[in-house]
Amino acid sequence: MNVLGIESTAHTLGIGIKIQDKLINVLDTYKKEYIPRELAEHHAKLFPELLKNALDLANIYLDDIDLIAVSQGPGIGAPLSVGVGIANYLGSKLNIPVIGVNHGYAHIKIVEYTNARSGDLALYISGGNTMIIRTKDLKIIGETLDMGIGNMLDKAARKIGLNNAAELEKLALEAKEYIRLPYTVKGMNVTFAGIYTYFVNNIEYYNKEDLAYSLFHTSYSMLLETLARAAFAYNAKSIIICGGVAQSVILNKMLDKFANQYDLLLLRTDNMYNRDNGAMIAVLGEYLYQHGYRSKYPLEAIPDYRVSDSLKYYFTL
Ligand code: FE2
Repeated sequence: MNVLGIESTAHTLGIGIKIQDKLINVLDTYKKEYIPRELAEHHAKLFPELLKNALDLANIYLDDIDLIAVSQGPGIGAPLSVGVGIANYLGSKLNIPVIGVNHGYAHIKIVEYTNARSGDLALYISGGNTMIIRTKDLKIIGETLDMGIGNMLDKAARKIGLNNAAELEKLALEAKEYIRLPYTVKGMNVTFAGIYTYFVNNIEYYNKEDLAYSLFHTSYSMLLETLARAAFAYNAKSIIICGGVAQSVILNKMLDKFANQYDLLLLRTDNMYNRDNGAMIAVLGEYLYQHGYRSKYPLEAIPDYRVSDSLKYYFTL
């Protein structure tokens, strides 16, 4: 089965193609500020070129596609609708099925797929999401009570004149000293408003490298405390680390120690699959389709699609 995966929930337009075990992944990320209409324009404009690149890399024609998988949400309405609209159009043009998938579930599934095994829990960390999920039923057992960790780090980066969290992390790697910052854990949930506000209010009083390092270290420690508690409460032995923030160098160093300390197996994947991408949508779409799940056609965008509702919007054969 040849599967086309379309990802357009936020700033990245991703086109993936899955042919048996081969995964093709092409994408383009809008680099300026998030303005929904501009994201939608970016995705609509680049779609034909990216689709052509993906088909060329896969060495197939559009007619060879058997199934279209599209990210149905969660996401920003305008760009999300571009991907869903194109999927609906291609489905009818090619007369093939279209299956919608939850974006967060796709982040989890691509890690399982590339590791060829399942995990008990998933730490899903990205711009808008910070969650601990039990994978067998996609129950959310812990999450941020305010902002997503990625957005918090990006916003902090911009406050000191950098573009994003990746640049802030480069600065943090030059740090000499750890500064104590507000640390807020509530059971298996976290909040970042306190640490973010402290960061913003103290930029002029500390060395920026130290402040950046302490922001990463403290907020990641909060995540790891909740993850340790969740692993104990749910008797988990293996943990999937997924989402854009899973690319963080500082986080991965902390995770190595954490896994050792608690005797946990971590399942991780390549950075190209941690960022938003179309291949993960194709992988989950094919998995669901082969398990008998079908989406009602035409599909609609679901901007507030919770990962725990990932299996709700289907009829089954
Ligand atoms: Fe994502």
